Amino acid sequence: MSDGQRHRVRLKDAPTEWEVAHGDTILRAALRAGVPFPYECNSGGCGSCRFTPLEGRVEELWPDAPGLSRRDIRKGRKLACQCRPTSDLTIEARLENERPPAPAPRRFQARYLGRDRLTADMAEFHFAPDAAAAFLPGQYAMIAIPGIGERAYSFSGHPAEAGARLSFIIKRTPDGRASNWLFDQLREGDELAMDAPYGLAHLRDTGRDLVLIAGGSGLSPVLSIARAATTDPAFAGRTAHLFYGGRGPADICTPALVRELGGGGAGLLCRNAISDPRQAADWGGPVGMIHELVARELNDLARHDFYFCGPPPMTEAVRRMLMLDHKVPFGQLHYDRFF
Ligand SMILES: Cc1cc2nc3c(=O)[nH]c(=O)nc-3n(C[C@H](O)[C@H](O)[C@H](O)COP(=O)(O)OP(=O)(O)OC[C@H]3O[C@@H](n4cnc5c(N)ncnc54)[C@H](O)[C@@H]3O)c2cc1C
Ligand code: FES
Repeated sequence: MSDGQRHRVRLKDAPTEWEVAHGDTILRAALRAGVPFPYECNSGGCGSCRFTPLEGRVEELWPDAPGLSRRDIRKGRKLACQCRPTSDLTIEARLENERPPAPAPRRFQARYLGRDRLTADMAEFHFAPDAAAAFLPGQYAMIAIPGIGERAYSFSGHPAEAGARLSFIIKRTPDGRASNWLFDQLREGDELAMDAPYGLAHLRDTGRDLVLIAGGSGLSPVLSIARAATTDPAFAGRTAHLFYGGRGPADICTPALVRELGGGGAGLLCRNAISDPRQAADWGGPVGMIHELVARELNDLARHDFYFCGPPPMTEAVRRMLMLDHKVPFGQLHYDRFF
């Protein structure tokens, strides 16, 4: 029942329903209630959260979001991450089989502590949350950028530190509004609103070795996974292979980060490649796409669990290589595309 502030969303032909508080999207309210609504980016880019409204009204936050195709729009489909109900609602959607991982997402404030420079256009930003925050390695937060809107940024730190410190590796996007605001306008002591944790590409313990693959700021979640797996005794005796790709040698910031990783868990092997052949003379290491290096360096890929993050063309190349060329089962692939 609507009370003006809250509306109920009901799934057609299923007993599932949940309440959406004022200001929340259909997707976020579902995840807070433990409803396994399908999603990936929470940002309007991937299209995983499509649904069809059958009864009731919604407000669309980003009607032109790229996650909807022309055909979707013709068929009246919407994105749950970009819709707020304005009345009680009945919808058609296919849920996931598994419940979303705990902890459920919640909103909090976080005070900016400062940042460590990693490259000319990438830094690790640190914040202190005002209440105990929690996440699984590989998950991300939605950060509200004043006057601009929310953006997804993946946690880079160890989850055990989350109560006191939350870190994110952020890259400046040329002409990007949020990323440039974070680099140029954010001052120590400023508070930002966050909503977290989100994301399904989180670390799982299956007994297999891990392969972590990242390009650019995709390093953020992959570093969090490396920080957790190398210190967790449950991963002792296993190997975490970290592959990092940048355009030129100046982008390769992993050596210093890897030196600081703790012990007691998985052993870490880090390999890097650059993609710009014109910079090869200053490098002396592998040149080419990062997924090509993975295929060259590792045997029997299907014996590993894969975690990979970065720009969509990079994640798509990794996914195709693993599934089509090496027959790695889809259940062993965990990835986030940074739309
Ligand atoms: C799951 C996930 C995790 C990510 N993790 C990281 C990370 O750890 N580090 C990092 O540097 N980047 C990360 N990103 C990318 C990040 O969220 C931003 O897209 C990036 O910083 C560029 O934002 P911008 O505002 O600077 O660029 P802009 O070009 O100004 O904005 C681009 C982004 O803004 C969003 N957007 C544009 N218009 C609208 C609109 N009308 N309404 C709502 N949204 C809109 C879209 O998401 C789009 O991709 C992640 C993205 C995703 C999806
Ligand atoms: S989760 Fe809604 S478009 Fe990606």
